[in-house]
Amino acid sequence: METFRTKLGQVERALLDAEVFCGHGYLSAHDEAVALLLGASGLSPDQDQSLLDAPFPPEAATQLDIWVAERCVSRKPTAYILGEAYLGGYRFLCDERALIPRSPIAHLILEELSPWWSADCGPGTIVEVCCGGGNLGIVAAQVFQHSRVWLADLDASALSLARDNVALHKLAGRVGCYRGDLLSAIAPESVDLIIANPPYVSVAEMEDLPPEYRHEPAMALVSEEDGTQLARQLLQQAATALRPDGLMVLEVGETMWEMEARFPKVPFLWLDLPQGGSGIAAMRAQELRDWSAAGIL
Ligand SMILES: C[S@@+](CC[C@H](N)C(=O)[O-])C[C@H]1O[C@@H](n2cnc3c(N)ncnc32)[C@H](O)[C@@H]1O
Repeated sequence: METFRTKLGQVERALLDAEVFCGHGYLSAHDEAVALLLGASGLSPDQDQSLLDAPFPPEAATQLDIWVAERCVSRKPTAYILGEAYLGGYRFLCDERALIPRSPIAHLILEELSPWWSADCGPGTIVEVCCGGGNLGIVAAQVFQHSRVWLADLDASALSLARDNVALHKLAGRVGCYRGDLLSAIAPESVDLIIANPPYVSVAEMEDLPPEYRHEPAMALVSEEDGTQLARQLLQQAATALRPDGLMVLEVGETMWEMEARFPKVPFLWLDLPQGGSGIAAMRAQELRDWSAAGIL
């Protein structure tokens, strides 16, 4: 009789032998193997250790074999195989319409963006620009319960997933979705908080990424030139769109070095991210306006 423990060992070994890349919501081949086993057995992630010695259901074995082959051979990320992803403790629907949720911005939002969001009350109007499946905006809506949130993306497919996630979280009364090019549709001085994880991979870098990334929409990853193009536009647009006390949290990952080179006089504040990750900056509306007025943006 095969137990969950023996199956887990086999799947983990298969993933390690295939040298899968774990950068899409799971930290290790072990974690991915656990997720695949539970998914194939129709079990939720909150199982305790005693499951390890329970018999692995034979009827789940065929599904598991198919999924392990998809993971190892076509290198499809586990979140796409399972159709779901977790971020900040929240569950999201996840498929090839949008990037797999993994931004460290979620952890900052869970801490109410402290100390960067310093007002007594939470932000009234929040825009998640480049929202993909809408995960960061939805986490923000859960944390800031009195906010009105807009999820915006240029890609209609991504937006349809964002709408599905809004429905999943029963937030349609407070969270709206619209199609738009960055912040171009936003009225001046109308937003308290902008959350942005735009595409920031350069065309050259894209060539070197592991095969798992090819399953994600190219439009979600690649930004022209050195990867800074969309982030640079956002800096300009946010300076206008934010209310005077507003804040933008912008992720550019390792492209932070290209941003530093592009804007050598801008004192970007790159945040410490104890949960991992890099290249996330917080910037206040007044700073953006000052940099713009000084001609250094
Ligand atoms: C890196 S993904 C981020 C998705 C989501 N925010 C997350 O963290 O999982 C970037 C998103 O930006 C969108 N995008 C690309 N160019 C855009 C543009 N000019 N205006 C608005 N959205 C754009 C892509 O469709 C994609 O969904």
